Amino acid sequence: MTLPDSIARLLGQQLPGYRIAASFRADIGRAERFTDQWIVAGNTGLVLVEDDTVELLPWPEVGAIACHRYVGGGGMTSGTSTDTRLIARFSAARMADAQNFAQVANRIRTGEMPAPSDSRPETPQDTQAATDRSDRDSPPSGNILVRLFQLMPGSKWWRLPIVALTLAGGGIAAVASPYLVGQVLFDEVLFPKDMHTGQLGLGLAISLILLARLAETALRITWGLTNASLIHDLEMRLKRTAFAAIQHLPMRFFSDRHTGELMTRLEQDASDIALLFHIILPSAIHGGVFLAGSLIAMVALDWQLALAVLLPFPILFIVFRRIFPEVDSLYERLFRAEADLRTVTSDSLTGIRVVRAFGRQRREMARFARPNRTAARLGFRADAMIGSILPPMALVTELVLVGVWAAGVWMIAREQVTLGLLITFAGYLGRFFHPVGELVGLIQDWAQVSTAARRLLQLIDSGTSAYQSQGTAPATELQGHIILEQVGFAYEPGQPVLRNMNLTVGPGETVGLAGPTGAGKSTVLNLIAGLYTADEGRVLLDDVDMYNLPPRALAGRVGVVLQETHLFLGNVADNIAYARPDAGREDIVAAAKAANAHDFIVELPDGYETQLGPGGHNLSGGQRQRLAIARALLLDPPILLMDEATANVDSDTEQQIQQAIERVAHGRTVVVIAHRLSTLRTADRLYFMEDGRVVESGTHAELMDCGGSYRRLVERQRAALETIGIGE
Ligand SMILES: Nc1ncnc2c1ncn2[C@@H]1O[C@H](COP(=O)(O)OP(=O)(O)OP(=O)(O)O)[C@@H](O)[C@H]1O
Ligand SMILES: [Mg+2]
Repeated sequence: MTLPDSIARLLGQQLPGYRIAASFRADIGRAERFTDQWIVAGNTGLVLVEDDTVELLPWPEVGAIACHRYVGGGGMTSGTSTDTRLIARFSAARMADAQNFAQVANRIRTGEMPAPSDSRPETPQDTQAATDRSDRDSPPSGNILVRLFQLMPGSKWWRLPIVALTLAGGGIAAVASPYLVGQVLFDEVLFPKDMHTGQLGLGLAISLILLARLAETALRITWGLTNASLIHDLEMRLKRTAFAAIQHLPMRFFSDRHTGELMTRLEQDASDIALLFHIILPSAIHGGVFLAGSLIAMVALDWQLALAVLLPFPILFIVFRRIFPEVDSLYERLFRAEADLRTVTSDSLTGIRVVRAFGRQRREMARFARPNRTAARLGFRADAMIGSILPPMALVTELVLVGVWAAGVWMIAREQVTLGLLITFAGYLGRFFHPVGELVGLIQDWAQVSTAARRLLQLIDSGTSAYQSQGTAPATELQGHIILEQVGFAYEPGQPVLRNMNLTVGPGETVGLAGPTGAGKSTVLNLIAGLYTADEGRVLLDDVDMYNLPPRALAGRVGVVLQETHLFLGNVADNIAYARPDAGREDIVAAAKAANAHDFIVELPDGYETQLGPGGHNLSGGQRQRLAIARALLLDPPILLMDEATANVDSDTEQQIQQAIERVAHGRTVVVIAHRLSTLRTADRLYFMEDGRVVESGTHAELMDCGGSYRRLVERQRAALETIGIGE
């Protein structure tokens, strides 16, 4: 990404002698404002440029630069594990560029790559080409309103003109009222200049005034009803679209850290966007029409008095221009702190069992206190600023009002204006500065709406593009032939978990994965189950690259028992039938029997109808595991993946499950991970993994013969089991 001339010039002025090696454009400002921020790596250090501020971080003060994925975006940090500083925020589309930049910057930082010493102004060509790549699909820019419209084609948008018209009508009625009271009632009826124009009856004048008020009220009611249905429809649809998008987001979005943020987004951003209809449209249309209408009326009635009314405008304008960017940025930071607070709350409450079990309530309170304090401090500063600015503003407008009255009285005495005109003016002025203040406040509301809308649109776009980039290979009968070919994979950028991983499972084979904890066994299953896609190499299913398979091709064909089972709210039978809701009771019972779950299920208070709490907390670990196995078996899938299927059960049950697995393994491909290596003995082949790659493979007997890591682990385990009296 080429550094724009303006930034290069700014650097030249502020940092003489600085030589640029690489640059990166982060498209979300550090305060989440969707402003461009530039990060530049050069000879003396890292430079951060946002708006007109240039900050140089000399290399000795810069720690390792790393990129992280957040929900719908990413961040770049520098520092050590204990002291990290967030240096940039960017949208998901810019992740690849960020990584390229971080790589170059780290090499300059460590001296691995010479810093430029000549005056060559720009990035080396190769990094530049790489960093240009994803500029096309940066954050949802363009017109946010249009995007919102497009997103919800079936929505009740036809109500929008009604909302606009009723608001505008209300504005016109509000302009008419002071005119009717002043010009008509006073000048024409009560104190007519001559009897000729005074013919208009008092009754008629009062009726007109009442009519205008009635019209205003009727318009308000119509607006209120239409607007309410529009708002709730919009919110409902936004949440639905976002929730649907989340269903398709790549699994990387769902680390524990981000799930709270996703929930917050869904809830908070959708209601923030509704501010558009709650506040922005009403203020803009009603206030705008009233302002324009009353201005026109005042100028038409008496342009000199009108001019006096406009006097304070330049002052108001200057003050608002100075104050509002400040208030705006305070509010942005406040929203961020509030989001942090919600994330901590959801994280802490989800883990309340662990908190209690370890008696860490104090720590949780401290964790909660920090963003809570920050939010309070920022909220105070923003409100204090507004609170100290609004009264002087009100004073200015009141002075104007007094001035207009004084001038008016003076002009009445000289018979230049009538009393009615003065009353009309006063009527306008009384309401005039309210919409002015409101319109200025709109800048801030709009910032809130547009930030929320961009964030949510980005989330929706990420989901949509993930959905669209899904493969379209035609679905065929699965034979169950699995091949991993030179697969490389990382959950977090720059921290590879699998490297050059090769593995073959023939149709109908039972293959075991073994290895020390953290070796990447579960990760291999995640890739085969299609939960994640490989970064390098290929995962082939019946010789088709998984990348080209639509997820639906896998649904119902790959049964998965994950290391951590999840049970949903509902009864036991529903949970077993989760992937096959149409399954009959006999099938459910048969699957439960095969998983050795039937016996404990019938002993539950309501048998198969027993309601499970959230996450199945009213069951034991082993019981949950067996329900998960039954769930996978009910699918009768050609491929069965089991992670630690026997980890949570006692030796007897383990043996029963083992038999069940052997029973169901016939005629299907099974990949099974077990910590108790004895359960893998009967597998057709074993892969022993260490540090993200396969180090040994063969049958149990072959691996025992070759005397490598597998054998050592088996012997250690046997010894350990004998020590605690569970010899084999
Ligand atoms: N969602 C995730 N996000 C980031 N890193 C992860 C994630 N899941 C696993 N890892 C990391 O990937 C590495 C391999 O994890 P994996 O779960 O595949 O190990 P494993 O062999 O199944 O271990 P275990 O025997 O303990 O289950 C670990 O270093 C782990 O920290
Ligand atoms: Mg695992």
